[in-house]
Amino acid sequence: MKHLVTAGLLGAIIAAGSSAPMTANADEMMDNTTVENRKMLMDGIGGAMGTLGCYLKGQCDLPDPVVRNLANGIAFAATAAPDAFEPKTMDATVKTTANENIWANWDDFSARFPVLKDAALAMAAAAGDKSAMGAAMGNLGKSCKGCHDEYRTK
Ligand code: HEC
Repeated sequence: MKHLVTAGLLGAIIAAGSSAPMTANADEMMDNTTVENRKMLMDGIGGAMGTLGCYLKGQCDLPDPVVRNLANGIAFAATAAPDAFEPKTMDATVKTTANENIWANWDDFSARFPVLKDAALAMAAAAGDKSAMGAAMGNLGKSCKGCHDEYRTK
């Protein structure tokens, strides 16, 4: 058993020592960082949506300025999103649900973010008016689902 472990380690050391995989590792690290960043961006949007949803369902209270901050945060993330998604990440080894259609249909994909941004700005403007907020929430949700249905693989 011990010998097997030693042999395995030795193999790993030899593999790490050869120079060819070095560039592959650099690409992999870069693509993994890109994936992690865009997932963080989406998680920020998701967190803000969850908090707004909590308020709209009457499960928590939020002062109007907090509603505006959350909505403006989504709008800002939507503005940053095209740059976060543009690099293709075929060398990524971390989990990603982004599918190839993103880059095959880049114009359609990237045009969805300004729509998300407008829906978020409408939410910010609706702070304090629950029925207007509900309508804005519907548009936000449509934007998320429309894109996820097309461009995410489970
Ligand atoms: C223009 C397309 C697009 C729009 C609009 C969009 N998303 Fe996403 N979202 C994606 C893609 C693509 C991924 C997969 C990213 C990955 O795994 O690399 C994703 C992933 C996510 C994730 C998972 C992140 C993770 O850690 O794996 C959450 C949460 C999320 N989106 C929330 C939302 C919410 C909420 C909205 C709407 C308010 C929204 N998204 C709007 C494209 C979009």
